[in-house]
Parts: sequence; structure tokens; C-alpha cells
Amino acid sequence: MAYPNKVYLNGNIVDAEEAKISVFDRGFIFGDGLYEVMVQINGSFFYEKEHLERLQYGLQAINIDFNAAFLKKEISKLLHAAQLTAIDCMLYIQITRGVAPRQHSFPQQCQPTVMMYAIPKVLPVINEINAKVITRKDFRWSRCDIKMTSLLGNVMLNEEAMQHECYETILHRNGVYTEASHSNVFFVKEGVVYTHKANEHILNGITRIVVIELCNSLGIPLKEEAISVEEIEHIDEAFLTGTNTQIASIQQIDDKLLYSENEKGPITKKLQEAFLKLK
Ligand code: PDD
Repeated sequence: MAYPNKVYLNGNIVDAEEAKISVFDRGFIFGDGLYEVMVQINGSFFYEKEHLERLQYGLQAINIDFNAAFLKKEISKLLHAAQLTAIDCMLYIQITRGVAPRQHSFPQQCQPTVMMYAIPKVLPVINEINAKVITRKDFRWSRCDIKMTSLLGNVMLNEEAMQHECYETILHRNGVYTEASHSNVFFVKEGVVYTHKANEHILNGITRIVVIELCNSLGIPLKEEAISVEEIEHIDEAFLTGTNTQIASIQQIDDKLLYSENEKGPITKKLQEAFLKLK
């Protein structure tokens, strides 16, 4: 199902076709808004608290006065109305600054537009995608830590992967790999797991945080250090993480083949198995 049946809009739950917003909404005009994606598995949202906390972090960063924790009970109402209470599903949340006459500076008293919907989605037990990825220059802005709705950079970079029949585009900035167009990226070199540190050049993915915790609990050495473009020749494994992606092994990066189609690295496999137990 591509579209949901019910949409939560500013406190009301309406049929999807009745969910309407103003063309003057700053989300539409400027992309002035934030979003979150989380999944319900076996009746509860996976790391819900962390997702809502990240949303709160973004709201504060862009000065929208809204309490993300308030959404917890609103999500229950939505799931109830959409008859998804106990069903595995994906929840999309979007909060924009709201409606105002078009000018860059925003009024202090803007009423945020809050929209959410859920659609059934069953994630695979283990993500068996063995991804082929391309690499591109990360030309996005320098506040990738804010999960904003203006995703044109990510969309353009992802489209390049699609044109090359690849799953993802991994990005490099200042000579090091940052993340991918809709996921975080990890590398394994000589038994050590590497991922870019959580700063303004990446989105600090919730799945990324979970994988770091798993490495710590499994005793797998992990460094929050970026891998450089030159170092890619010497890596042994690589994988992507994200809410929908979970943990996906990478088979090939540009022309560099890491594994054959049905093979994956031992550390990737170990992390996928440990991740499965969390769900
Ligand atoms: N994407 N980096 C980027 C640029 C992302 O868009 C995402 C998530 C992640 C991983 O974050 P998390 O583990 O919290 O899902 C990293 C979402 C799912 C999306 O845009 O649909």
C-alpha cells in the first residue's frame, strides 16, 4: 500500500483524501520543516524515544516551538483510527513551521503544521539486500544533522544510484566518507568497524546508534572515525544502516567488488544477527 487510509493533521485524523494544507505552508514554499520515520515491530515502535528525541533536537535547532513527546499519545490515536495498533508498520511524521506570507524570516507566532501517517510494512528478518553502491561528492549543506524535509540533495544523489542500477550512493566530503543518501555507512578494516563521527556532516541515525551499541556489547572494536577516499581500497567489509534498511551488507562500491552476490562479511553478518535479536 503506497498511500495510507488515514492521516493525522494538526490534531485531527481524517481520510487521506481529505488531508489538505495551505499552499502558503512554509514546508511547501521553503522546505522549512522536519520529519521522522520509525517502524512498529511486534506491537511497539523500535527506539521510539530516540526518534522523538532527535525530532526535538531538530525542532530546537530550527526554532519551532513544539513538544515532540506530545506525539506519543497522538501516534496511538492515529494507529487506532488506521486499524494498525498491532500491525507491523512504518510511521511518517512531518512538522513544518506552518503557514505565513512568503518571506525568508519567519513570524514568531507561527502555528506548526503537524502531519503523520502510518502504512503497513513488514521488514525482513534480516536484510538480505547485498547492495551495490556508487560514490559521489557530498554536495549537500553543512547541517545534515537536522532531519529536514528539504531533501533535494539526497534525492538527486539517490537518483544517480538508481540510474546505475545500484541501491545507494555513498558520499564523500573533504576526502572522507560521510554517509549515504538515505542511510549511514560503516566500513570494516582489519577487524575494526569505522563510521563517521556524529557531527554536522551526517544524520546521527538511530540504527547507527544501535549498531555502535551492538559493537560495544559484542566486543567488536569500533572507531567513530571517517574512512578516506584512498583507504577504500583497503577495506574488508562495508554496510549501510537505516530504519528501513536495517543493516544491509555492501557487495560492491563503484568498481571495487567486496563480496560475490551471495556472500557477506563475517562482522556484518554478526551484527545483523545481533540486530535481529533486538527486534
Ligand atoms: N532515512 N542518513 C540519512 C541521510 C537518512 O535519510 C537516514 C534515514 C539515515 C539513517 O537514520 P535512521 O537510522 O534513524 O533511520 C541516515 C529515512 C529512513 C528516510 O529518509 O526515509
